[in-house]
Amino acid sequence: MIVAGTEYTVEPVRRLAGSLSVPPDKSISHRAVILASLAKGQTHVRRCLLADDCRRTLTAFARLGAAVEPVPSRLNGAEGDIVIRGCAMRLSAPDGPLDMGNSGTSMRLLLGVLAGQAFDSTLIGDASLSSRPMRRVVDPLRQMGAEINGCDGANHAPLTVRGGTLRGIDYHMPVTSAQVKSAILLAGLFADGVTAVHEPTPTRDHTERMLPLFGVAPETEHGWARVRGGAMLKAPDAPFTVPGDFSSAAFWLVAGSIVPESELVIRGVGFNPTRTAALAILTRMGAFIEPPCGAPGAGRMEISGDFQVAGRPLNGTVIEGVEVAQAIDELPILMVAACCAHGRTVIRSAEELRVKETDRITSMVTGLSRMGARIQAERDDVIIEGPATLIGCDVDSFGDHRTAMSLLIAGLVAAGRTRVHGVECIGISYPNFLDTLRQLTR
Ligand code: S3P
Repeated sequence: MIVAGTEYTVEPVRRLAGSLSVPPDKSISHRAVILASLAKGQTHVRRCLLADDCRRTLTAFARLGAAVEPVPSRLNGAEGDIVIRGCAMRLSAPDGPLDMGNSGTSMRLLLGVLAGQAFDSTLIGDASLSSRPMRRVVDPLRQMGAEINGCDGANHAPLTVRGGTLRGIDYHMPVTSAQVKSAILLAGLFADGVTAVHEPTPTRDHTERMLPLFGVAPETEHGWARVRGGAMLKAPDAPFTVPGDFSSAAFWLVAGSIVPESELVIRGVGFNPTRTAALAILTRMGAFIEPPCGAPGAGRMEISGDFQVAGRPLNGTVIEGVEVAQAIDELPILMVAACCAHGRTVIRSAEELRVKETDRITSMVTGLSRMGARIQAERDDVIIEGPATLIGCDVDSFGDHRTAMSLLIAGLVAAGRTRVHGVECIGISYPNFLDTLRQLTR
């Protein structure tokens, strides 16, 4: 292994063995910080992810008046226990623009919260975030009465929000997005009457599961989620512990499947059923994965457990419909699995991948084809013929954390050295990824 600046070089391995834990869930950490910051009282968040994306949310709420202990600038490390004294639903005006960095979740969910505040605010982001579509959130928030301005008809940051009195709406989401759903529900907390949002395909439901902990139970049925505005969120009495991130675990589920003779245990991983479609997909492909015991569908809480994975030959599959939505962040690493699988894999209608931190269809097709994979994009479908003999070479992350990690895992089964350029972005979601990779491959 050679670490050189922002490049990382990986060599093929015979097997991966051992036990590891993954970082706390990114989506849940954002929501824990947001709800705790809005609530009345003090919330203890255990194992909050402190990767760059979540630090953006944390720093923003500290600037909006939440008292965060330890203060964000003193928080070292990849995760930590924090105590947040919330603002009892009334944030205070920030002293300047709020910088969301690379974080789409921070920007979209903050838009929902800020739409309901009685002050003006401005949200900015890096080049990638500023190129990502925001009208999907801005349109419903405007219907609720918020005034939002920005580039390209407020489709792109910088965005200014003139919040104030909102009215509840019934909204059919034209896109499949948990971020949009969550932004509308958060705005709904500040609206007159009931805000109802309908999603075409079920997406991650962390907001709906966490709100009851803060004393507000949304109604959910037949694809609708409804909240009544005007309630006071209350800090939960007991500490809230963030489970391990299934999307981070997915890199090791695939690595353990494609590197022959591997045996890995991945500890403490969240298995909310709206997040684990990749498990069903890999199992259908022939992977040997033992999920945790328990009934993820029961109860409203998030649950976690240990996963075991062992190397096995894989077969191609078709990924479409609800699985695309529920494995959206795992599709890049599933493309790597598909390169190693016998036969054809087709991922259908993955247009949402085009508007992630980078266009992930292009970034993955570019990287994996360079390594010798037979992979191509047809409109928004990805077609992969396997198994391919992957050859190590120089590939680029395009500044996208999940592309970087996926290509590094591909390097474990490629002949020769794979050098991934631009690996610093991995800190967006998985600050310890390279340490774990180094430990497992030494
Ligand atoms: C997220 C939702 C997903 C996902 C992102 C996190 C969330 O985005 O890709 O990494 O925390 O709500 P979309 O809902 O826009 O698909």
